Amino acid sequence: MSYLSHLNPPNLHSAVEIVLDTAYQGIDTQGWEKLFAEARQSQLEQFIADLFAGKHINNSEDRPALHSALRNLTKTPILIDGKDVMPAVADVWRRIEALCNKWVGVTDVIHIGIGGSDFGPRLAIEALAHVPGLQSRGMRMHFLANIDTAELARILARAQPHSTRVVIVSKSFTTLETTMNAKAVVAWLKDSGCTQSQITHALYAVTANIHAAKDFGVDEDNIFPFWDWVGGRYSVWSAVGLPIALQYGFETFKQFLAGAEAIDLHFKNAPLEKNLPVIMALSLLYQQEKHHIKAYAAIPYADALDWFPKWLQQLDMESNGKSVDRNGKPVKHSSPVVFGSAGSNAQHSYFQLFHQGTEIIPIDFIAVRDPMSDRPEAVAHHRILLSNCLAQAQALANGKTASNPNDVYPGKRPSNFLLLPKLNAFYLGALLALYENRTATLGALWNINSFDQPGVEYGKVLAKPIEKALASHQSDIQSNAEIDAVTAARINLLNSNYSPS
Ligand code: F6P
Repeated sequence: MSYLSHLNPPNLHSAVEIVLDTAYQGIDTQGWEKLFAEARQSQLEQFIADLFAGKHINNSEDRPALHSALRNLTKTPILIDGKDVMPAVADVWRRIEALCNKWVGVTDVIHIGIGGSDFGPRLAIEALAHVPGLQSRGMRMHFLANIDTAELARILARAQPHSTRVVIVSKSFTTLETTMNAKAVVAWLKDSGCTQSQITHALYAVTANIHAAKDFGVDEDNIFPFWDWVGGRYSVWSAVGLPIALQYGFETFKQFLAGAEAIDLHFKNAPLEKNLPVIMALSLLYQQEKHHIKAYAAIPYADALDWFPKWLQQLDMESNGKSVDRNGKPVKHSSPVVFGSAGSNAQHSYFQLFHQGTEIIPIDFIAVRDPMSDRPEAVAHHRILLSNCLAQAQALANGKTASNPNDVYPGKRPSNFLLLPKLNAFYLGALLALYENRTATLGALWNINSFDQPGVEYGKVLAKPIEKALASHQSDIQSNAEIDAVTAARINLLNSNYSPS
């Protein structure tokens, strides 16, 4: 008998053999009915249809958000302003597959990118490394994101220049961290004795700005395009996910896309009452209304998913961390702070606050049914891992009375339980798509455009005059229109010959 036969509405739901249990949310049948009614009132069903139909739902940038096309393996036509995008998407798949077959004798791949051009592939490579039996091609995959040269130095100390391939990943191809790191890596290849033609041969780009990649010196044949209708944080399904295909083969990459596609079909077609991303979004909305929560946590009980919360932070907070709605009006709610890390480690860190702190923090407990290694200890260890996961959720929900106030657990602390049958490329893809669709649902419920990120720009602008002031080495910088008195004093501190005793 399938374990899915234990499902018992209204708290247990499943899609693609992933189970969602909301029993500890404290929402009764009437509560759910009200939430679904509110979702319908917010035109959520129309929003989902528009999302998949390629309507310009990214209203501030006047473009669609069609990352779903990148995992539309059936190639059902998807029209943007009347033109089917699937032939171009399929052409990139063909080129990725060809590249997988072409790269022989490559020891190191340096993937240079930041934010959405980094988190997705980095998480996937980390996670898939733990899948028992998954054949890796054994290349060293290095992810270079930070402008801090510590990361660069660490990578370059390990990579073998003559058998390294460099993939510059940037939707805009203007991100300073990425272009400067790319220049540094090219300089390293040169200093290591690679000829210009060897460097050109080693250099690849994944971008929506083909001109800039060509200007940088990347051969046109080595440029993998993606498009302005794919948001950076939604781009792992494009050639941004190249490391997955290169390391584990094109079939594995397709499995990753297939898992996401399966969730998309569910999200698009299931009624709201059975729709996992919608139910997850509504449970958070309920806790916002009821407890005015300011944060929530995602705790994967799988070491392989330790990078998942970092990926989720960009997804949720860059998408929905906004104060105004689609019409520029102040919002009632927007994204809470998101954080998390792998359980059970997390229990030994901040769970004290979950149990007894003054803040109520809803949690998504994410568990995997199968053990994540083929070690002889795997079954016994996995049982303990899962016991901990279940025990934490129960303790948080029910609490405990005691005569000593110090030993009281208040309880009524909400959580979801999400169970994946196993962690492989398919279920990893499904998990990420589940959360992407949840994020989009929350945006729709809050009337926020989840597909732009204007708030990241101002700091980048201010960094320019500050960098100039630092480069001047002067320690008498005065405040001006671009640099305030506090920052001027900090620049002067950095520029002075101060040496701590
Ligand atoms: O600064 C934020 C951001 O624009 C993200 O949205 C994006 O994922 C990241 O920078 C990297 O951008 P790009 O892929 O254009 O280099």
